[in-house]
Formats: sequence, structure tokens, C-alpha cells
Amino acid sequence: MYGLRRSRALLLGLVLFAIGSVMYLKSENLTAGTVPIHQHFPHSGIRLEHDAVRYRAEAIREAYMHSWNGYMKYAFPKDELLPMSKRGGNSMSGWGASVIDGIGTAVLMELPEVVEQQLRFIADIDYTQCEHQISLFETTIRYLGGMISAYDLLSGPYARFIQGAKGQKNYELVQALLKQSVSLADALKWSFNTTSGIPMPFFMLHEKRIKSEDINNIAGVGTLVLEWTRLSDLTGDTQYANLAQRAQEYLLKVENPEIGEPFPGLLGTNLRLNDGNFLDSFGGWGAMGDSYYEYLIKMYAYDPQRFRRYLNRWIQAADSTMTYLASVPANLRGSNIVFVGEYSNGRSIAMRGSHLACFIGGNFLLGGQILSDMKYSIFGLQLVEGCRMTYANSPSKIGPERFGWDPNLVPSNQKKFFEKHGWYFTGEIDYRLRPEVIESYYHAYVVTKDDIYRQWAWEAFVAINSTCRTENGFTSVSDVSREDGGRKDDKQESFWFAEVLKYLFLIFNEHGIQAADKIGFVPGKNQKWVFNTEAHPIRIY
Ligand SMILES: *[C@@H]1O[C@H](CO)[C@@H](O)[C@H](O)[C@H]1NC(C)=O
Ligand SMILES: *[C@@H]1O[C@H](CO)[C@@H](O)[C@H](O)[C@H]1NC(C)=O
Repeated sequence: MYGLRRSRALLLGLVLFAIGSVMYLKSENLTAGTVPIHQHFPHSGIRLEHDAVRYRAEAIREAYMHSWNGYMKYAFPKDELLPMSKRGGNSMSGWGASVIDGIGTAVLMELPEVVEQQLRFIADIDYTQCEHQISLFETTIRYLGGMISAYDLLSGPYARFIQGAKGQKNYELVQALLKQSVSLADALKWSFNTTSGIPMPFFMLHEKRIKSEDINNIAGVGTLVLEWTRLSDLTGDTQYANLAQRAQEYLLKVENPEIGEPFPGLLGTNLRLNDGNFLDSFGGWGAMGDSYYEYLIKMYAYDPQRFRRYLNRWIQAADSTMTYLASVPANLRGSNIVFVGEYSNGRSIAMRGSHLACFIGGNFLLGGQILSDMKYSIFGLQLVEGCRMTYANSPSKIGPERFGWDPNLVPSNQKKFFEKHGWYFTGEIDYRLRPEVIESYYHAYVVTKDDIYRQWAWEAFVAINSTCRTENGFTSVSDVSREDGGRKDDKQESFWFAEVLKYLFLIFNEHGIQAADKIGFVPGKNQKWVFNTEAHPIRIY
């Protein structure tokens, strides 16, 4: 069974690769930087009126305020709001994750009272104390990324926005973002002191106990380098960049490729802290792998001088993905739809995917723009189409946590659904206020300027607003295969503020400072900002 599936995926991959190569040859003659994508991927013809666009940006700002007010009323200063039970939860170390994850979006939305409130809170956090378990990955992408990004925004294009009447006081609050970033990194850095230099994934701050017999995964190791490098570049203290880059070396050059690198550039998932050897050959662009691949191209965008090796690694992974993992559901051949599968044992490709992995369309589009290489952009748009289907065909109009498209594994009660749509729901049918599909729409819109992606983003927002909205904020829901989304699961994750609302707002806000300073709007040659994996914009070097 596996062999059959694999050869089909391989064949499809080869066909796609061949198409991609032809397109690539064509694109070589084009002027670098301007990629006339519509020659290859037709414009939908859809155009939105300015008034509609402005109204939508306003509606998304309103959703932010609704979420923020609920958080302040019932959860502050805990990490996140549990909107059904009207209290706070501390799933992210208890330093007030929603405040730090939310500040960048509030800056871009130009909500000065909210930002001042957030700045004052952040300045007083004691990062040397924590009674909860710490995830180095989550703490880096949410807290460190959130503070560094707010610092970059408020000491750069948004400096005047926050200074206002209380100039000096607010200046100090902005400086505190950087001081607090250093304080946090100093509290965490001992976790890199393992035999190999690969950091521990989880630890208690006070124990300071090194467990070199532990394991970490490639996302946990490979999603630190942007934040820790930026901190070094801002402070002039190289120790932070050195720690993260040293750990990353085990991913740039795998110690035991026969296990750890089943396809060129595509890695296994878990590796040992004592020697950096890989323990398995399974993986893909979903959980525990995803943002390692994402950061390879983003590090190159951050500084092409220092991070060319990272780019080469991204190209390897991207090419292997197009060759080995691309897969078109049997009854959707001839459409513009592509899914990317997952691998196990380094051989068989499973035809299943996840909401998390739906950021991949946006990442390929970013790569295509940065490299002026049409084959990645087109593949990216095809992936966006695939993930969009999981929203458009779903009765709630929201995509599930996981889905599949293997004709041999269709659940018997979904045969009709599969025949019609080419995919089916698998075990995890909840929605956790995740951003990845909307994130990819954002990149697709930026690259193509085709309003169809704004339309899709709006449809997603309207569905989320009618399914996940509660009296005091927004919540995860249990079952998107039902029209009403099922049970309200009672969690407003901090990434709702950082990612979903930010990408939505940026898609619709064409005015404002961020358009003038091109925050996120021009990936490619004139790029000035790069988003960390939590959607915090970081100023490139
Ligand atoms: C790292 O661990 C070694 C002992 O294994 C110790 O001597 C050293 O001080 C530690 N460094 C830090 C920064 O904690
Ligand atoms: C979002 O939901 C609220 C509450 O039901 C409603 O008032 C508002 O019009 C909705 N917004 C959109 C854009 O659908």
C-alpha cells in the first residue's frame, strides 16, 4: 500500500517538477525583481471597492478590541483568556503572553491607549522568576519575538505614533522593550549549555539542571535563530546569535544523514542533545518541523551576507518538497490544487496534512519573490488553493486541524464528501484560532495583488467571527465539520492577537504607516521587514 502511494506521489512530483522547470526556464529572461506572475497564474478579475476594503480593516480592528477587552476584563495579567469560563489561563509561562503577542498588532492598528497599557506592563515583567515550565521555542517566538518586534516598530516607523505628549516617558518604555529582551534571553541562555550546544526544549527556570540525555526537534532547534540573532544585532553583544547559530549547525549539516536526512534538505524530526544525532526519519512541513524550513529563507531575507548557507538549505528542502511530497488528489487532477504530504521512515509519503502546514504556500511565495524564481511562486499559489479548499468545502467554512486525501483511507461516512471535494476530515476536526491559511492568503495577495485572496481572507474572517466569537472574546471550537463549529472550547490563544488579526489587518489596510514603510508589503529586493513565525515583523539587518 505504501509503495503504491509513494510511486504515485513520486510520479506526480516529477510531473510537477518538470512543469516547474519549464516555467523556471521561461522566467530566467525576466527582469529580476518584477515577476509577472499573471502570465502563469491568471488573475481572477475580482476587484474590491476601496470602501469595502476600509470597512473590512475596521471590522478586524473591532475584533481586536473585542478580544482585548475580554482579556483585560477576565484574564489580565495571565497568558490568555478562557472566554467561556471567564478567567485567565497560564499556558505560556505566565508572563502575560497575550500582552506581548498582542502589542505589535496594536501598533500596526494604531491603537495608542492599548499600546501604552501594554508597554507599561511589559516594562515591569520579572523574567528572572517563573514557576511554570518553560518552552524555549514558545518563549522565543512569542515573548522575545514580540518584544524585539515592538522595539523595531516603535523605535523606527512608529516612533512618533507613541511618543505624543508624554514623549520622554514613552521613550523609556520603548527602550525597556530591548532591556527586557536582554533580561529574558539572559534568563534562558543556560539551556543551551548541553554537550552538543543544542538547547533543552523544556525546563524550569530555577532548577538550572542540564539534561543532555534529552531530545529536541528541528522546529525547537531551528526557530530561534532569527530572534536571538536580531537581539545580538540590536545590542552589539554576539553571545545570543552565537548560541542559536551553533545549535542550528546540526540542521545545516546533519551528523547522521542516513537517518536524519531522508530527502535532500528534508530532515527527520527529533535529535539528541548529547551529540546532535537524529533519532528518526519522519517529518514534513507540519508540527515539529514547520518553522525550521520557514526560517531558512527568512534568515536569508534578514541578511543575505551571513545566511547564504541557510538559503541553499531552503532551496534543497523546497526542491525535494516539489519532487517528493507534492500530491494532487486523484479527482482533482487538472486543477490548480496541490497538497503536500508527510513522510515516515524516509520512504513512504502519507497523504495527510494539517492546518499548521498550510503556511507553506506563503513560504514558497516568499521564496519565489526573494529569488525571483517563478517555479516556487506558482507552486506556492497551488498550495494556497489546496488549503483554501479545506475552508471553502467545510460546513463551518473553517478548515480543520488535520485532513487527508488518500483514496484508500477515506472514512466510510465521508465517501461522498471525498468524491466531491477530493479530501476528507481525519481525527482532529477542531479549530484553535490558527493563522496559517490566512497567512498564506496574505502572501498570495502581496505577490499577485489579486483581490481574490482578500476575498478568501474575508470569508475566513466572517466564518470565524460567526463561529468562534463569544460575548467576551474569541474561542477555539471543537468541530468545524459541523455548520455551527461544534462546542466552544474555551481558549483564546495569544497567537490570535499576534497572527490571525495581524495578517487579516495587513491584507485590508492599504493606508497607514505600514504601507508607507513597506512593513511586510514588498517581499523581494526592497524588503525591509521579515515576519517571525509568530507574525512579529522584525526589521531586516
Ligand atoms: C556550562 O556547564 C559547565 C559544566 O558542564 C559549567 O562549567 C559552565 O559554567 C556552564 N556555563 C553556563 C553559561 O552556565
Ligand atoms: C462579527 O460578529 C458581531 C457579533 O455577532 C457582529 O455584530 C459583526 O457584524 C460581525 N462582523 C462581521 C464582519 O461579520
